[in-house]
Amino acid sequence: MSIRITKDISIAARLLTEGKLVAFPTETVYGLGADALNPIAVRRVYEAKSRPLDHPLIIHVGYNDLIDEFAVDIPNSAMALVSRFWPGPLTLVLKASEKVLPIVTGGQDTVAIRCPAHPMAMALLKEFAGGIVGPSANKFGHLSPTKAIDVDNDFGSEVDLILDGDACAVGIESTIVGFDGELPVMLRPGMITRETISTVISKEVLDVGPKPPRVPGSLPSHYAPVTKLVLLEADDIRQYLKENAGSHDFALLTFESFSELHPRIRMIIASRAPKDYAKNLYQWLRELDGVGAKVIIVEAVPATDAWDGIRDRLGRAAC
Ligand code: TXA
Ligand code: MG
Repeated sequence: MSIRITKDISIAARLLTEGKLVAFPTETVYGLGADALNPIAVRRVYEAKSRPLDHPLIIHVGYNDLIDEFAVDIPNSAMALVSRFWPGPLTLVLKASEKVLPIVTGGQDTVAIRCPAHPMAMALLKEFAGGIVGPSANKFGHLSPTKAIDVDNDFGSEVDLILDGDACAVGIESTIVGFDGELPVMLRPGMITRETISTVISKEVLDVGPKPPRVPGSLPSHYAPVTKLVLLEADDIRQYLKENAGSHDFALLTFESFSELHPRIRMIIASRAPKDYAKNLYQWLRELDGVGAKVIIVEAVPATDAWDGIRDRLGRAAC
């Protein structure tokens, strides 16, 4: 194990103060952290990720009241979501305060803020006592990391420290909600679902209008393994397997086993529970990416609210 991978929160907080890059675990995915008020450190985050400067970053905060430091004119419905879901996998896009650096927001007048629930992230934010920018700790367009080793594989010595908080419990990125007045707007689906949000604040959740804010997660090629990925219904998978008997060019991620049709193919049988599926999704894709197949075939997931975030990530990976 690299000495840069540690569980020492004090060292991590000190390095952030010195303007260094520290990858840290959250309950969703690992983030690539830097001091949100240090423009040089924030620029290094974009450079390390090879991320265009106009794709804004999320500021992670440790205390619910830090929201007032970075956001102004906060809608009541946003505060209702904060009290229900923070700390947790929900990011709110709000009007930015003057304190927020333009490099964090890509020059927009809004800022994305979230209070993560992972105990190590919470301890780090408490010790650092400030906002930490944290895009997912992967190179632009790669799969998001859900283990410390994933971060190490993508960045090596480009990050100064990786805090190891074991495997992420949620497994896909946070739900992102913006606001049109008091009405929530779904910018990125996640494991806190549209129906749950709607129920908590007794308001309809709007879709992004024709001119969406810049969300790199909404670029088609995001969250993709290197191997081509296709999404198919179970019947179409059965048909494909019959037509490709004897081939070893593909790997499968499915709900049911097709092993009687293809005994020697690399196959992962996924959980039918969305929480378990999300927790494992990126590790499954990494594993299937590594088997040397020409294509990863993924069985389409249910078209229900609970699967929205997962369906979104799979859809982008399949582009
Ligand atoms: O779960 C997560 O959200 C993880 C963990 C590390 O917190 N972070 C994450 O960050 O997924 P990132 O940078 O990979 O995705 C953040 C998304 C981007 O799509 C970005 O465009 C969007 O948030 N975003 C940031 N600021 C925004 C803003 N002002 N308006 C609209 N979207 C914004
Ligand atoms: Mg990302």
